[in-house]
Amino acid sequence: MGKLSDNLNTGEASTRLSRRKFLTGTSGAAVSLSILRPELIRGSQANSKISLGLLGCGGRGTWIADLFRKHGGYEIAAAMDYFPDRVNAFGEKFNLPPTRRYTGLMGYRRLLESKVDAVAIESPPYFHPGQAAAAVDAGVHVYLAKPIGVDVPACRSIEASARKAAEKKLAYLIDFQTRTDPFFQEAVRRVQAGDIGRIINGEATYIAGSPWLRHLEELKLNPADPERRLRGWGMSRALSGDIITEQNIHSIDVMTWILDQHPLRALGTGGLKSRNLGDCWDHFSVIFWFAEDVIVSFSSKQYGTGWDDILCRMYGTTGTVDTHYAGEVSIKGATPYAGGRDGTLYTTGAVRNIATFYDDITRGRFEHPTVPPAVRSNLTTILGRRAAYKLAEVSWDEMLRSEERFDPALTGLKE
Ligand SMILES: NC(=O)c1ccc[n+]([C@@H]2O[C@H](COP(=O)([O-])OP(=O)(O)OC[C@H]3O[C@@H](n4cnc5c(N)ncnc54)[C@H](O)[C@@H]3O)[C@@H](O)[C@H]2O)c1
Repeated sequence: MGKLSDNLNTGEASTRLSRRKFLTGTSGAAVSLSILRPELIRGSQANSKISLGLLGCGGRGTWIADLFRKHGGYEIAAAMDYFPDRVNAFGEKFNLPPTRRYTGLMGYRRLLESKVDAVAIESPPYFHPGQAAAAVDAGVHVYLAKPIGVDVPACRSIEASARKAAEKKLAYLIDFQTRTDPFFQEAVRRVQAGDIGRIINGEATYIAGSPWLRHLEELKLNPADPERRLRGWGMSRALSGDIITEQNIHSIDVMTWILDQHPLRALGTGGLKSRNLGDCWDHFSVIFWFAEDVIVSFSSKQYGTGWDDILCRMYGTTGTVDTHYAGEVSIKGATPYAGGRDGTLYTTGAVRNIATFYDDITRGRFEHPTVPPAVRSNLTTILGRRAAYKLAEVSWDEMLRSEERFDPALTGLKE
């Protein structure tokens, strides 16, 4: 893999770049951030807003920027996307002058050199670790979309940059919506207190259609074009991590949350049948083994229509916990929990995370509780993926040792 890819994925070079700039004082904007931040934390600028830069101005980035704006404590100050059409549409919507719009693979560095207090990273997953590491190096708070990264080194990079963020007193939040939901929280608390007895086995599923059909048509016109590939990143293993990491992580995260552990091994299969472009699969079936031989059967699909669900259900000796991202959360059995549903969790979860991020910054809370579970569930998706690709049993330790890195093939893209 090329040097550029290494740097973009793990942020190794950006560390050196920004440190040099701090030391030599060639980036006045970066230095001013370190002055501004403690004032925000102490609350001595109670009326000042947190200036926010968006990295990735696609569907989620544009949508979530509006939630940041509605919060009232943020000002959308800058934006970056690889593609000019994306960042310009965003810039028009949020009244950003052309000087605060950045493009190209390295646009995030130019954005970080301008004056922002925080970034929301909503780019394709391959870029998350490098962009998060560069932000921390520049003294900027990090709000990061799931999944944190596509491979084991990426997860390690996120752990390292979050550690560094804690040392530098920077906020760092990974945006999973289910973890903010009172019904999910209460159900998990009750299960972990023993309300369904001893868990024997369970199931986790992510059943959906394809969000990539529009990009599929564009990619078909010239599959070798790197820009078409980048627009349709969700069909690329290297850019997305495949559907099990990029999308299915929502149900796998609940699985590891309920059991509060990572699996010890996995055996899987799957494939790609619904289209003949891209190398991401469109269905997975994986068996995860946890401690004491608790077995969870996972399955997913990303094609077709007719049924959507993000489910995690665990069967215990005295009851069953049943959770659905967009539906009911409940416990049935000897000690039932009626639970309930937040039909708008997609929005309310992000709204809560945005509020927590603001409070973390302004109240000086830098423990980053969202990071360890996000690393664990991300690695769990990688374990399942590796087992499925190999059509063989893979242990957690073997997956960690593999240090497998995906090659994003960025040649031909603009810096
Ligand atoms: N419920 C959720 O938590 C949720 C929902 C949707 C998406 N997401 C996550 O948000 C992220 C973005 O997804 P999306 O649906 O907005 O995809 P999208 O394709 O709509 O947007 C991604 C944007 O990133 C841009 N981009 C490409 N390379 C870039 C780079 N190097 N740096 C910055 N931007 C770059 C693309 O041009 C595009 O505009 C993904 O990590 C995805 O998993 C999370």
